Parts: sequence; C-alpha cells; structure tokens
Amino acid sequence: MEFQKRYGLYREMAEEYLRGLFTVGQPYGRLQEAMGYSLLAGGKRVRPVLALAVCETLGGEPETALPLGCALELVHTYSLIHDDLPCMDNDDLRRGRPTCHKVYGETMAVLAGDALQAEAFRLIAAAPGLSGEQRAEAVFALASACGGDGMVAGQVLDVNGLTGGETELRRLCALKTGALLRAAAALGSIAAGASPENRQGAEDYAAHIGLAFQVRDDMLDVIADQAEFGKPVGSDREEGKRTFVDLLGLDGCGALVAEETRLAKSAVSKFKNNEFLLDLADSLSERRA
Ligand code: IPE
Ligand code: IPE
Ligand code: MG
Ligand code: MG
Ligand code: MG
Repeated sequence: MEFQKRYGLYREMAEEYLRGLFTVGQPYGRLQEAMGYSLLAGGKRVRPVLALAVCETLGGEPETALPLGCALELVHTYSLIHDDLPCMDNDDLRRGRPTCHKVYGETMAVLAGDALQAEAFRLIAAAPGLSGEQRAEAVFALASACGGDGMVAGQVLDVNGLTGGETELRRLCALKTGALLRAAAALGSIAAGASPENRQGAEDYAAHIGLAFQVRDDMLDVIADQAEFGKPVGSDREEGKRTFVDLLGLDGCGALVAEETRLAKSAVSKFKNNEFLLDLADSLSERRA
C-alpha cells in the first residue's frame, strides 16, 4: 500500500480512538473541554502512527497497539500544553489554534495536562488484547520515557538553558523528544510480542528519528510558513533558546537530519516489510509542519 494511504489509515484509527474518549462528559468545570480542545486539534499523530506501524511490521495487529499509541499521544499532548505555558516557552499558537492556557487560563491548562497524563496510564492498564505482563511492560516503558529520566528531564535541561555545544544539545533532545518517540517503538514492539532484537532495532530507529525530528523542528522554527506549521515561527529566538540552527546553521542541520535519517533506516534494514518505516523516516526528514 502506498505510504500516504497507510499513514492516513493509521492516523484515522488514532483519531477515532481519541474522539471516543470524549463521548461521556464529566461535570468538572471545563476540564474535559480543555483536554479535548488540545487533544482533538489535529497534530500529525506521529507517535501513535509509529506505534501501530512497528506493531504491524513486527507481526502484530495494529489494533492491539492502538490504546498504547494513543496513551502516548495523551502524554505528548500534555507535554505540549505545559511546554506552551508562560513559565516555559510562552507560546500563543499550537496545532493552528490559540494555546490551551490562552483559551482556558493557566490553571486549567496545568490541570488538563495533569489529567491527560493520568488518563494515559489508565488506557494502558485497561488495554484489551494484551496480557497482564504486556500491560505492565507498557506502563514501565511509558513511565520511563515521560518522567524525570525522560521527557521531563529533557524539558528541565531545555529551560535551564544550553551551556555546552552539540553533544549537550543532542543529549537534551534525546530526552525531550527522543524518549517519547522511542517509547512509540517500544509500545508497538510490546503489543506485537516482538523479540528483544527486533524491539532493539525498532527503538534504535526511533532514537535516530527523534534527533532528526527535533533538528527539523528547530529548522522549521526559522524557515516554516506559520499557517502550515501551526505554531509560532521565531519562538526559539524570542525565548533566547540556543538550538541546532544556532550551533550548525541551516545547512549543517540539513546534513544532520539526512545522516540521522540514514541511520534510522539502517537500524530496520533487516526487518521484513520495512517499506513503511523507511518511507516514514524520509517523509519526516522533509516535513513542513
Ligand atoms: C512537537 O511535536 C514537539 C516536538 C517534539 C518538536 P509534533 O511535531 O509531533 O507536534 P504535533 O503532535 O504534530 O502537533
Ligand atoms: C518540544 O520542544 C519538547 C516537548 C514538548 C517535550 P519544543 O519546545 O521545541 O516544541 P515546540 O516547538 O514548542 O512544539
Ligand atoms: Mg520547549
Ligand atoms: Mg515549545
Ligand atoms: Mg520547537
């Protein structure tokens, strides 16, 4: 099947699942509304798509990975809501809409993020079609990726400000962006009951994609069309962030994205039916949003 079509099918599976989480309204002020506002605002859904694709590539049914991939999307969305707050990146636009705190206020934005994170773990704990052991492994993988040794650690390094050079920035990105993308590969592998070797290959792929993804994000913060990007252009500079563009220039960034994309593809070169993962790596390296 053609790459775009398969991406669209995985993405629609995720959209439908996520929409289904908001059919029963809870009477807690505007909490539910704020959660749905950010979660159902589009977004590329790269993390659930990757989880489903890894699961299917490694011999599982994509449906089995759906609650896990969507749990990750909830954690990712919470990280974006908090990332945009005035105390962090102070941004007004996300996924083409005013940021959560602009519409619902800072207090509700913090709480919507908190609730999305908790809900993610509930989805995994209740995921059908998985053994108790698989669910526990998935909880362990997600908790490791998003907490104080993962995404949150990366955000801490990011807000502290970069003092070193490329090595330090790579480490920061491996945590703030790479950890959740690697978790997508881990969750897809767990759902598929993959061998340790295959899971390692998938996680290596995602780690390289993760670095390329953040370098591309830093480039787009300079060169993107804001309407297409769906978030502010020039925000990193405004916040005084030292990014890959500052360290390497746009051409150097392009070369790094190409190299990490090559390494990602080589990590899954031995997988059968790896076409989608190869095309995904290429397509993310050229993304404009
Ligand atoms: C944005 O992630 C944050 C980064 C890690 C650069 P995405 O580019 O995946 O954002 P959405 O989910 O498509 O909005
Ligand atoms: C995103 O880094 C990392 C997380 C949200 C964990 P950025 O701050 O560069 O992401 P954008 O550009 O706001 O999406
Ligand atoms: Mg940030
Ligand atoms: Mg930001
Ligand atoms: Mg950015």
